[in-house]
Amino acid sequence: MSYHLNSTRNYHLHRIETLGWELTVSNALNPAGSPCRRIIKKNKSYGQLLYDYLDCLLPMLKIRHILEIGGGYGYLMKDILTCHDPVKKATMLDISPFLLEKQRETLAGFANVIYRCEDFLETEPETLAGFDLAIMNENLGDFPTVTGIDPQSIFNPHRDKMDIILKKMSHFIEKYDLAMPASSFMNINIGAMEAVEKLCAMSIPYIFLSEHSCEAAVPEKYKRLIRISQLSQPERIQLKGHDEYTMKFSHLESIARAFGYRIIRGPLADFVEFQWTNRLRVIMMAPSAANDEDETIRQFIEDLYKYEYLLLMKENMG
Ligand SMILES: C[S@@+](CC[C@H](N)C(=O)[O-])C[C@H]1O[C@@H](n2cnc3c(N)ncnc32)[C@H](O)[C@@H]1O
Repeated sequence: MSYHLNSTRNYHLHRIETLGWELTVSNALNPAGSPCRRIIKKNKSYGQLLYDYLDCLLPMLKIRHILEIGGGYGYLMKDILTCHDPVKKATMLDISPFLLEKQRETLAGFANVIYRCEDFLETEPETLAGFDLAIMNENLGDFPTVTGIDPQSIFNPHRDKMDIILKKMSHFIEKYDLAMPASSFMNINIGAMEAVEKLCAMSIPYIFLSEHSCEAAVPEKYKRLIRISQLSQPERIQLKGHDEYTMKFSHLESIARAFGYRIIRGPLADFVEFQWTNRLRVIMMAPSAANDEDETIRQFIEDLYKYEYLLLMKENMG
């Protein structure tokens, strides 16, 4: 029963000095002068675009207390608080003291923001009562992933001999009837599943999740222009000082469905819409990027499809 557990906990607690190496879609759109802003339909930041999208789908007037887990530099919450009058309170929960400090700086102008420095996997579920919307943007891949395990080892009849990680895995696979790969090894986003299960179990009415997906696909008509790989298993992404894993969204969907959530799933391109200009076609068709700006744009367009989101809705708000 050998396996490896990928964890970014120590990195986030003690070693992180910047998010600059992880060009998230949110960070890519943050500077108003970013070249990525020039190719999208509405010249807005990621948070503003997400807000516009949520505003079409959710009863935003009823959303009073928002929880953001793993908010990075805090740009997304700043945009939401700027757009959204009725928010009475926001809570930023992050494992990294360094990034929580950055969030304090970014959100300094807003009253009623609570900061919680904690590992969400250790958060007491009862402390999640009362949130109307929870957001986890581009961070589920940081949560622990079990890699290189033989799927058969999970069906061990000697359960008492299993370690805590294996017990958790068999809990998820059996309880949510998760599809298993045909191969003799498996990578599984155990931490992300635990996080989503915790949010769903507390019946938070609305949950927004986004991350780099291993199941992402490009619409047929764009396949010549946007080339991304689709795998059935979470894939390792090597970053400075730590590794992350892409997300198997179908597993997260199964958990949310079991808790009775209605689900919208799609690529970030659903709400970060862009225009196919001649210039963009040339950039995407070229065998390699002509300069740094073109490279940034190519990566950004690919990311709009590589990253998927789940919007989970449980219509029990008063
Ligand atoms: C890649 S950054 C994403 C930041 C931001 N959401 C964005 O989209 O740009 C990952 C964030 O998740 C946080 N994080 C990672 N593991 C966590 C955990 N177990 N509990 C709470 N926060 C965590 C990190 O400290 C960081 O703020």
